[in-house]
Amino acid sequence: MKAYIKTFGCQMNENDSERIMYLLENEGYERTYDIAASDLIVINTCTVREKAKNKLYGHIGNLKILKSKNRDILICIGGCTAQDLKEKLIEDFPFVDIVFGTHNIAELPELINRRVSTGKSICSIENNGFDPDLFKVKREYDFKAFVPITIGCDNYCSYCIVPFVRGNEKSVEVKKIIRNIEGLVSKGVIEVTLIGQNVNSYGKDLNEACTFSGLLEKVSDIKGLKRIRFMTSHPKDFSRSVIDIIKNRDNLVGHIHLPLQAGSNKILKEMNRNYTREDYLNIIENIREEIPDCSITTDIIVGFPGEERDDFLETLDMVRKVRFNRAFTFIYSPREGTRASKIKDYILSEEKKKWFKELLENQNRISYEENKKFAGKKFEVLVEGRSKKGANLLEGRMENNTIVNFKGEEKLIGSFARVKINRVKSFYLMGKIYI
Ligand code: SAH
Ligand code: SF4
Ligand code: F3S
Repeated sequence: MKAYIKTFGCQMNENDSERIMYLLENEGYERTYDIAASDLIVINTCTVREKAKNKLYGHIGNLKILKSKNRDILICIGGCTAQDLKEKLIEDFPFVDIVFGTHNIAELPELINRRVSTGKSICSIENNGFDPDLFKVKREYDFKAFVPITIGCDNYCSYCIVPFVRGNEKSVEVKKIIRNIEGLVSKGVIEVTLIGQNVNSYGKDLNEACTFSGLLEKVSDIKGLKRIRFMTSHPKDFSRSVIDIIKNRDNLVGHIHLPLQAGSNKILKEMNRNYTREDYLNIIENIREEIPDCSITTDIIVGFPGEERDDFLETLDMVRKVRFNRAFTFIYSPREGTRASKIKDYILSEEKKKWFKELLENQNRISYEENKKFAGKKFEVLVEGRSKKGANLLEGRMENNTIVNFKGEEKLIGSFARVKINRVKSFYLMGKIYI
């Protein structure tokens, strides 16, 4: 029996897919990358923007054809769109066998059995509370792993659907996280990425209080762990102690992903982000003072309802002031049920696209200029796999998260290589191995 999984969305979804694969393997399924050869298909969906949601619809026609050719194929839709649309997905697409929510991953084997024995499509989206099997995963990589430290989100940024589809924020207990990472290291993992929608608010809901920096310290103490990443940081909860610990510990990487979202205080307020542009700049100043080599990346939304040209120019100004290494930029996409979706939006979409392009051009230039600073220098990179940029090329990641492509043998994958940078682009570098 073969299972095919397609994952959209953030690291949380990628981690969920690794959990799904673990469960399916236990049920006797083997992973396939050929959808036409599969007995079971899982689409793990995202709905953070309309475009992300539409990726499901891009597949649905093909799923229907596959099902009409072979009625025994099981089609399962999970993730945030499933959580949002629930039974409606089965009503609209009767060939879908199972719809399961973001809290129902552990039920999947049982849902599959029930579907087979009853012959009826099933939708399971109830939130049955914290899942104790969070860490049982079939990992994509042997040498690096995601480690969820919080699930859900309580922040209700006014544009964002995540709190509605992922539930309230819950922190995983410290000792469970540490035990899990120790287990990973004993199996050869050298890099972990601690994930959560707002990692900085870690621990607030735990009986045994622990801050995020307290957790980082404990993770950093684990012997054999070479690189510790974390994302996403929220400026409103970002504390000075996180900067101090990154500065003092070698295995905590010099990369902070700190979504700005907007540069105008009026818009930040409307977004319910709970910080000002001055607060943000203050954090950046502290980071740069203490960790000069730290790379800083961000997320930005253009065209939030009520955003005017002057507000946008403040975002552009922040981009020029901060000089992000990289920015993930999005045009605002209204999500049903969120507060922002009810605000009247009178700026034309054409205008928003123009701003978006302007932002992109500025940021791409800055990314390029920042990358140029690496030219001719030598860095240690963790070799992650083959590069898509050309035959015989490998892809590795610098401590600061920048991608480097270079010629090398496949046996290097999963280990560190020293690379000298000889060419730079906005989004990646080219280099050469040196001994
Ligand atoms: N928890 C993280 C990111 C969550 S979603 C954080 O707080 O930063 C990833 C990014 O998608 C967000 O940072 C935001 O820039 C973008 N995003 C979320 N909702 C959006 C919407 N409705 N329209 C456009 N972009 C959105
Ligand atoms: Fe969404 Fe805001 Fe939570 Fe991030 S912090 S997931 S943007 S509500
Ligand atoms: Fe998308 Fe859900 Fe992540 S909406 S961004 S997959 S939490």
